[in-house]
Amino acid sequence: MKVEEILSKVQQLPPFPQVALKVLEMVGREAPFKEIARVIELDEGFTAEILKICNSPFFGLSRKISSVQEAVVYLGEKYLLEIVTRTASKKYFEAAHRGYDLQRGELWRHAVACAVASDLLQERLGRGKDLALFTASLLHDIGKVVLSSYVADGLKEILERVRAGKPFIEAEKEVIGMDHATLGGMIAKRWNFPEEIIDAILYHHNPKEAKTEYAAKVHIADVLCSTLGIGAGNDELSEKIDSEVLKGLGLSGKDLMEMLVELQDRYEKTQSLFTTEQGDGF
Ligand SMILES: [Fe+2]
Ligand SMILES: [Fe+2]
Repeated sequence: MKVEEILSKVQQLPPFPQVALKVLEMVGREAPFKEIARVIELDEGFTAEILKICNSPFFGLSRKISSVQEAVVYLGEKYLLEIVTRTASKKYFEAAHRGYDLQRGELWRHAVACAVASDLLQERLGRGKDLALFTASLLHDIGKVVLSSYVADGLKEILERVRAGKPFIEAEKEVIGMDHATLGGMIAKRWNFPEEIIDAILYHHNPKEAKTEYAAKVHIADVLCSTLGIGAGNDELSEKIDSEVLKGLGLSGKDLMEMLVELQDRYEKTQSLFTTEQGDGF
């Protein structure tokens, strides 16, 4: 009964913006950037957001940028695509999520930090930025958005099980009949995301069961953010990285320590970059 109610709530979520999905699909098939920019320009909301960032005091440009084609010169292609994904995702996360003991804006900060961490991870592995990984990291806890009020209602029972040694995500499933990773996977599927993003969201707490290594990367990025205390809910405070998962990607404990320091620094810079005069940044 409760599960049916939860699933009906999923249907009430506003659909993920089509333009962001289209951009993701075009990047996936390596479409020329000019074509991608044309798709973005058709959407007034995204174009306005990109121009707002480009014309913000942070860049201190002497003249006003008035088109996406111009903006790319200053921001770079990858960064511009990142803004599209970020703008599309923000509205889902901003509220407080009391079931997970998260104040307003905290889950969004966690999402952004995780996306930044996934970029760092790619760099450490000597690979280029991957927009699908960035998006999966940003959306990995989307299930919490719907599940939070149910977790709040069952919190006493969930925490009793956690104290008895059960991982939070398993306790969620036992008490509510659903966990936030499974629900997140369902949401991503409903939004027609590519398979690797669905898989990464679904298995971000259990990456050994995943079909692709995206889940392992999101898992590592997630734990790095929680270790730094960035938007870690009551469910993630004791989460650890599985050493086999780490080894599977060819990483060591030393890599993790170094990434933690880099993440703190990069996250602070990212925050200041996106905090505009109106204070509506990350
Ligand atoms: Fe999670
Ligand atoms: Fe998380």
